[in-house]
Amino acid sequence: MTDQTRPPTGLAIIGCGRISGAHFAAAASLPGHVRLVAAVDADRAAAQAAAAPFGARALTSLEEALALAEVEAVLIATPNALHAEQSLAALRAGRHVLVEKPVAETGADAAMLAREAQARGLVLAAGHTFRHNAAVRCIADILSGASAERSAQFGRLRALEVSTCVKWDGPQAPWWAERSPEEGLILSLFAPHALDFVQLVMGDDDPVRVHAEAARHQSGWQGEDEAMILLAYPGRRMASVHISYNQPSVLDRKVLHFEHGVLEIEHGEILRWNGEVLVTPPEGVLANPRAMGGRRLDHYFTDQLREFVQALRGEPHRCPTGDDAARLITLIDRVKASARANSAADAIDPPLLAE
Ligand SMILES: NC(=O)c1ccc[n+]([C@@H]2O[C@H](COP(=O)([O-])OP(=O)(O)OC[C@H]3O[C@@H](n4cnc5c(N)ncnc54)[C@H](O)[C@@H]3O)[C@@H](O)[C@H]2O)c1
Repeated sequence: MTDQTRPPTGLAIIGCGRISGAHFAAAASLPGHVRLVAAVDADRAAAQAAAAPFGARALTSLEEALALAEVEAVLIATPNALHAEQSLAALRAGRHVLVEKPVAETGADAAMLAREAQARGLVLAAGHTFRHNAAVRCIADILSGASAERSAQFGRLRALEVSTCVKWDGPQAPWWAERSPEEGLILSLFAPHALDFVQLVMGDDDPVRVHAEAARHQSGWQGEDEAMILLAYPGRRMASVHISYNQPSVLDRKVLHFEHGVLEIEHGEILRWNGEVLVTPPEGVLANPRAMGGRRLDHYFTDQLREFVQALRGEPHRCPTGDDAARLITLIDRVKASARANSAADAIDPPLLAE
């Protein structure tokens, strides 16, 4: 529980684009936790439109926001390539940071940010939004030993399958089209969510072997838009991840194979143990789970921001830390390297039939 007697944390949101609406809505719904001081975007009109409902300042650069003493924390929702430099600038200016996934483009940069935050006693939290989901939280609690009875009932974990397949018909922001195959498209934009869940389940272990295949099916971008990843973990545990931007019938499924049965999250929300329903989503969250936009996600962003404030107040929280993020991005480096090595340049980026 957050201490309601403390004044709300002064927040600046950097990047007022596509996903920012969810962050601004979260800020609006948590007046006891945050006070929006500034909305920042390189596009002044976007900053003004976002700032107006809050009576906040509209600024065009991070530096202007960092010059305001009332800004205690920043939420960074700019294009991926800016995350590391903007997070570093904010940390060096003594501000707590919640940064959208991926925290950085490379594991080395993410680790550098984690060290910087730790050295300064600041919170660096990663926008691994789907951790703030009741089914995922329930699994995290069970695996962390909070429910010894359930853990004993499950037995040992052998394997984990994650499928997160959606349809993005071309670039959702202009910079998606500009990313080179080496920078990665789905492996840097979407894999963080799926692999964060794998890391959550596998605990402190990193995989001993990583194998990835990636391909491009759409012509509106240069990077891969479909990938399959196979991971071997200590203890003979294995994980497979299938992510896609090409599937119009949305599929979001996580299956954990335990010694005594199957734990499954269907449609990203409904948790079942051998068919017994353990968690269902709040009313109205799943309108049409097989359709893009058919599932409400706004409450995750609210929970994420609330947990961030709890973290920077030194209260118990569920924010993924800088170290969690650095391990994740280091894994993504390995996944991207495997995909590139396996493709020998032409499987990720083959000539499309229509080209
Ligand atoms: N957590 C999630 O589920 C989720 C979902 C979508 C996107 N994201 C992440 O959010 C980030 C933003 O994605 P988006 O789709 O909103 O992109 P977007 O391009 O729509 O928005 C980015 C905004 O940043 C602004 N900008 C660019 N350079 C800037 C600078 N130097 N200073 C300030 N503003 C600047 C742009 O003008 C734009 O308005 C990405 O990193 C993406 O991976 C996360």
